[in-house]
Amino acid sequence: MPNRRGIISSAYWSSKESDLSAHGSPNTVKFHVSPGGALQGKLRVPGDKSISHRSIMLGSLAAGVSEVSGFLEGADALATLAAFRAMGVEIEGPEQGRLRIHGVGLHGLQAPAAPLDLGNSGTSMRLLCGLLAGQTFDVELVGDQSLSRRPMQRVTGPLASMGARIEATDAGTAPLRIHGNPNLQSLAYRMPVASAQVKSAILLAGLYARGQTCVTEPAPTRDHTERMLRGFGYPIDVSGETACLEGGGCLQPTHVEVPADISSAAFFLVGASIAEGSDIVLEHVGINPTRTGIIDILRLMGASIELSNQREVGGEPVADIRVVSQPLQGIEVPPELVPLAIDEFPAIFIAAACAEGETVVTGAEELRVKESDRISTMADGLVALGIDARPQPDGIRIRGGQLTGGRINSHGDHRIAMAFAMAALRANGAITIDDCANVNTSFPGFVELAQTAGLQVAAEAAEE
Ligand code: S3P
Repeated sequence: MPNRRGIISSAYWSSKESDLSAHGSPNTVKFHVSPGGALQGKLRVPGDKSISHRSIMLGSLAAGVSEVSGFLEGADALATLAAFRAMGVEIEGPEQGRLRIHGVGLHGLQAPAAPLDLGNSGTSMRLLCGLLAGQTFDVELVGDQSLSRRPMQRVTGPLASMGARIEATDAGTAPLRIHGNPNLQSLAYRMPVASAQVKSAILLAGLYARGQTCVTEPAPTRDHTERMLRGFGYPIDVSGETACLEGGGCLQPTHVEVPADISSAAFFLVGASIAEGSDIVLEHVGINPTRTGIIDILRLMGASIELSNQREVGGEPVADIRVVSQPLQGIEVPPELVPLAIDEFPAIFIAAACAEGETVVTGAEELRVKESDRISTMADGLVALGIDARPQPDGIRIRGGQLTGGRINSHGDHRIAMAFAMAALRANGAITIDDCANVNTSFPGFVELAQTAGLQVAAEAAEE
């Protein structure tokens, strides 16, 4: 329970996890972060969100029992899990990140009794559009306010050319009503935006289509779907920017070991870089080359980041990452690194605010359609903390300076909340961040882990 000062104990936080999830009122938690400090120690952040979603999806479609370890027990991946349970898949767990999924085969899903509520999770909604387009039943997909504003036409458009029948609002947004069509046609699709969600949705629909479905991407995006399909024994041919598969095959059950999420590690990579006296090791982090833009960008800024103990786990490369604080310089972020660091920009913008000189990001208009408009939400927050931050249509210019204390509206965006929590390490006053319950979508236990590392953060119940 909250104590008299409104500080939430970890027991209270975990007991509230279920009602702070997809259905929770996002405005019930705020973070209070005292200024200063440094990050120290060995930490393991929770499992990778993208891989956790895909483990449920492919495990459910496999012909037999698959095991998953390291699964992220955050609200987004749990929304995917609940969706497959609602479609008749028996899933044991999660028990300390372990799951047993009794896969029903490609054609074994059943019509859910009610709309599938995917909460805040864009990955669930977009990938499920593809996976469900070729079923024999109809299904409705709904989400929270933020998800109901996000563009879905980027998946419903190409899926329609495969014969999918998906109704959306006039704005092309959720709720989505999918009328199953078991006679999907294959497609060769050249994506206009670099999006792993679009690529994955089309490949998943391609499992159900007659013939060969191919997707070509304009720039490399995360390839977890391709890697995991291979792990489940499903042939997929990747050559250059194009991935192709034949419909009608069979997924063999397997064991998926989910590495720690580099997108969650990102807050600690930045925090330890900016806070003088920091020295941390992040253990067992996924370093798939389609995800490591954060490391490249921070190194270009002068950060000290070393990888050790590199190994491959279940088809994904992992490593331990050591970060020691270093003065950072502003840079022009190379546009080719943008899709490889797409979820890490809130944290990168905090690094930029602490760097000497100006950092310029271009070619990042996708940030405007994430859980919040991350260009304007971050710019507003940085300006509120005394930083010269100028939003541009496709990016931002940030001049490093002294962060002050202040109050930030995270707009219910988990990554904005965690990025500004790290900013306090270099601020000269306390930072209060509103609307933080959605941190639980990707990083349950963030507050406790960050406290262990040395961040003076507390979650408080917001007065309603
Ligand atoms: C994801 C892809 C990215 C990323 C999201 C997760 C995925 O989205 O931002 O958090 O798991 O495929 P886009 O495909 O829209 O770039």
